[in-house]
Amino acid sequence: MADRLVERAGPADAEALSALDRHIDPAWVRRCLAAGEYFVAREAGEIVGFLRFTWFWRTMPYMELIQVREDRRRDGIGSRLVAAWETAMRAAGAELLITSSMSDEPGPQVWHRRNGFSESGELTFGRLQQTPEVFFVKPI
Ligand SMILES: CC(C)(COP(=O)(O)OP(=O)(O)OC[C@H]1O[C@@H](n2cnc3c(N)ncnc32)[C@H](O)[C@@H]1OP(=O)(O)O)[C@@H](O)C(=O)NCCC(=O)NCCS
Repeated sequence: MADRLVERAGPADAEALSALDRHIDPAWVRRCLAAGEYFVAREAGEIVGFLRFTWFWRTMPYMELIQVREDRRRDGIGSRLVAAWETAMRAAGAELLITSSMSDEPGPQVWHRRNGFSESGELTFGRLQQTPEVFFVKPI
């Protein structure tokens, strides 16, 4: 499809991303956009997937959330978002990418491994999350 694009999101995406990214409030969406911490996949101008990241120790990018629109899954969009993020992070001087998912979510774990990540340990977060969160890393 010629009108497909994966790129870093900009301030003009604030409204659309606030509707899609229900885990954080719109003010934090705008803060992440200003910091360049979103990538989006577009088709015909519409966002069909996004990746939000932050920095651990300011040196290691951590993928907080990736989400592809349900009807567009398993067509390479998530992998293209990760590839664009990886390229940008390498250019920014990063040497290791981090991501994670809950231990009871086998699908995302298969997907992380397929994208070159390997398991690196797990954590629980007290009363907030008793199901272990499995962390994955990828040297770049
Ligand atoms: C996980 C997610 C981002 C993957 O994006 P995607 O665009 O669908 O994935 P891709 O097309 O790049 O990769 C597809 C491949 O990944 C693997 N994969 C993806 N989703 C999978 C699932 N639910 N179960 C098992 N394998 C899966 C398969 O190997 C698949 O290849 P196949 O279709 O030929 O079998 C997407 O499914 C999603 O948005 N899920 C809901 C949100 C979520 O779980 N986010 C991750 C939280 S850590």
